[in-house]
Amino acid sequence: MSRAISLVTELPGPRSAAVLERKSRVVADPLDLHAPIVIDHGHGARVTDVDGNTLLDFSGGLGCHLVGYSHPKVVEAVQRQAARFSHTDFSVIPYETYVELGERLVRAVGGGDRKVAFFNSGAEAIENAVKFARAATGRPALLCFEGGFHGRTLLTMTLTSRHHPYKAGFGPFAPEVYRLPYPYPYRSSHPDEAGQLALQAIERAFVTLVDPASVAAVIVEPIQGEGGFVVPPADFLPGLESLCRRHGILLIADEVQTGCGRTGAFLASEHVGLDPDIVVLAKALGAGYPLSAVVGRASIMDAPGPSAIGGTYVGNPVACAAANAVLQVIDEEGLIARADVVGKAIRARWEEVARDVPEIGEVRGVGAMIGVEMVSDPQSKAPNASFLGHLVRHAMSNGVVSVTCGIYHNVLRHLVPLVITDEELEEGLDVLADAALAARSG
Ligand SMILES: Cc1ncc(COP(=O)(O)O)c(C=O)c1O
Repeated sequence: MSRAISLVTELPGPRSAAVLERKSRVVADPLDLHAPIVIDHGHGARVTDVDGNTLLDFSGGLGCHLVGYSHPKVVEAVQRQAARFSHTDFSVIPYETYVELGERLVRAVGGGDRKVAFFNSGAEAIENAVKFARAATGRPALLCFEGGFHGRTLLTMTLTSRHHPYKAGFGPFAPEVYRLPYPYPYRSSHPDEAGQLALQAIERAFVTLVDPASVAAVIVEPIQGEGGFVVPPADFLPGLESLCRRHGILLIADEVQTGCGRTGAFLASEHVGLDPDIVVLAKALGAGYPLSAVVGRASIMDAPGPSAIGGTYVGNPVACAAANAVLQVIDEEGLIARADVVGKAIRARWEEVARDVPEIGEVRGVGAMIGVEMVSDPQSKAPNASFLGHLVRHAMSNGVVSVTCGIYHNVLRHLVPLVITDEELEEGLDVLADAALAARSG
């Protein structure tokens, strides 16, 4: 079997280096870069740069390329749509591809009396999920969690937990947002009780922090993404749901990173039988075309007044065509089942590597959403971001693009395109395993 990775220059090669030099002169510095290459094209899990180097992208365009780069069915749907019309503003002249996508998503999220609205980004969809929830409940307050990430607009930045790099210097923040602990078993002093302790903290907050009768919604990631691929104990989310029901609070599941099959179910919520009032999807949905969705009960989605929800570009027809193709591909190619196969291979490899690498504190996740938390030693569990930095740089220079997460920047996250072949997956994992050993020796 021929190798996927082919490096024909140092990274960056001369052509990439020339573009990166131009970039540094005209692009704002905060848009700093992770991979020292400039892409020419991508297919499946492979990207080829402008110097002819081919790498495996284990970041999958930060989770957007679940069906892989340039899937032929997505490309065809986009080209066909772009040739017919690229924009109208749905609320001026509607189009069928929007409605068709709505029908598909309502089915995928569980059917019933649900309705949808489309937006451009994950953050924009969360902002609008809050509008729907406030309109439906007539309440102002929001609950969110430590370690949560919901975007970079003013409200979603407020909902987001980590100060650096997302919030520092950008205040003042939006009012009526209350943050509570999210159960993080690996870092809990009582791992077996982490779920119950987090629920008790919410009950306590209803006495000390905010009147539950003024809370419109709880916004929660069923598995935290940016926060470190943290999987809550199985009793936490059902407990949260019943607490919400008791107080008339709506439950918004932020499935921007977990959704569309990444965890081996269309929604990560399904693994614990969670039935959110509102689900937010983005990333994999549009295969990188700017598209996000809010799917919720009709009584909630119909609550704001006429023209109260919208935006010039929301539910763009080309992005909707891409998303219709994505959902079809997920079905036809059995990618939800494939998530479990991919995840098992990733987990097995890291568990094997962990025998020789004590810096691997925990391998965790659901389906193909696997994170590896790096520590100085298993006893202290001190976060080890510098070890992970070495690992990621070594992997990159040997042809695997990978990304990190975690409140301490010490978790390696896998967002591998699920169309990756078994051979490509093993080849990429070989590079990552070598990188872990290399990081040990500095
Ligand atoms: C869980 C979650 N919510 C919201 C967002 C924000 O999405 P976007 O970057 O499209 O605004 C992200 C992005 O990483 C995310 O992971």
